[in-house]
Amino acid sequence: MKTHWIGDVISGNHDQSEVHLKGWIHRSRGSKRLRFVVLRDSTGTVQCVIKRDVVGDDAFETVESALIESSVEISGMAIPTDREHGHEVQVSDIRIIGPVDPSRPFPITESAMAEADGGETEFLLDNRHLYLRTGRMTTMLKIRSSVFGAIHSYFRERDFIEYQAPNFVAGAVEGGSTLFEVPYFGRKAFLTQSWQLYAEAAMPALERLYTIAPSFRAEKSRTRRHLTEFWHAEMEIAWSGNEEVMNHGGGLVRHIARTLLNERSDELESLGRDLKLIERYASSDYPRMRYDEAIERLKAKGVQVEWGQDLDYSKEKILTEDFEVPHFLTHYPKIAKPFYHRPDPEDPRYVLCHDLLAPEGYGEIIGGGERTWSESEILERIDEEGTPVEPYEFYIDVRRYGGVPHGGFGLGVDRVCAWLAGADHIRETIPFPRDSRRVTP
Ligand code: 4AD
Ligand code: MG
Repeated sequence: MKTHWIGDVISGNHDQSEVHLKGWIHRSRGSKRLRFVVLRDSTGTVQCVIKRDVVGDDAFETVESALIESSVEISGMAIPTDREHGHEVQVSDIRIIGPVDPSRPFPITESAMAEADGGETEFLLDNRHLYLRTGRMTTMLKIRSSVFGAIHSYFRERDFIEYQAPNFVAGAVEGGSTLFEVPYFGRKAFLTQSWQLYAEAAMPALERLYTIAPSFRAEKSRTRRHLTEFWHAEMEIAWSGNEEVMNHGGGLVRHIARTLLNERSDELESLGRDLKLIERYASSDYPRMRYDEAIERLKAKGVQVEWGQDLDYSKEKILTEDFEVPHFLTHYPKIAKPFYHRPDPEDPRYVLCHDLLAPEGYGEIIGGGERTWSESEILERIDEEGTPVEPYEFYIDVRRYGGVPHGGFGLGVDRVCAWLAGADHIRETIPFPRDSRRVTP
């Protein structure tokens, strides 16, 4: 029976020195009489010392021939050492649970990892299911879990209701060019790009709602920050405008950064992240800048950019390289944004919207704003876009029956993980990344 996690053993967090552990062989070396097995479980690794004259010939030889990633059960005494891990286990008994066939050794070797150099080669992506158990990926998955937990706690502590929307839908939210079409019993359906339109339908029922769900975008180009299936944290709130929605966006991102400092500072440091940066993101206000000022700044840096364009990654990267904290960009031109954004009553060439751009060159992590909430305005916007009205009838009905000012945002969870963990590529943050070239494993 397992009595301890390895994490407890190496931190000296055990009252008795006799321990029973279960895990996988991470490394193994030794001589005819003595073996050092580094045992791994989900909480860490510990050195286990196995002596032939203690465990007996049979057990010793089984361990000697056991390959990396064989699963084992170990009993022994945990004792402090002055070496690397602080504690080691003097093994009295060891048993192989799941062996590895010597004709198929674990393919992710140290040299394969060295070749990837902290990034990801095609080989590692092909073997993603095995790569998950390596240190860097395990660390990312723990950070990711804390980010998800932080999103739930932020909204739940503020009485938001978690609400689910369908993933098969009839129309676009974020423009037709990135829609995935799926055959649907002789008709066409699409994979949803966003929970938003269905959340707006529930807004008069729940008033404050949120979700974390996958969204889908048929992004052909492979970039450092695009997935075809990504995790989207979205919120919608009644009786609100752009300002209040932005306050929540900033509050949520600070809360995520604070949660990581509390729960995952060891993991962040092991990835080489400077905790002072995360502390700054957790405790700063995020400045606001109008789109027009961003365009001026880019022009001043010699970037070719035209008023009316949405800012793509290359431009956001340049803009955010010298930001110390995330910045909100507000008031984009109407022509740069989808139909649901509310035109600014003071100057209808602009919409009441915002993107939150993460510093260090990461760029957009949130898109949101105030919604067009009267029937006539939304019909006009749909008409301007030249999209058919029919798939949006349910959406227009929200305006026909007691429309109210409201707004919301979507946060790209994988992008936030990449930024806060300091990853080079969004793929590093998600267990099985999907892009235009890959749906396997
Ligand atoms: O800016 P977007 O397209 O906004 C919406 O979908 C709104 N309907 C959200 C809302 O108001 N409820 O997407 C929101 C965020 C982006 O800021 C980005 O962080 C992330 O979703 N995102 C992606 N993340 C990874 N891969 C992709 N292909 C992404 N597309 C958007
Ligand atoms: Mg956007």
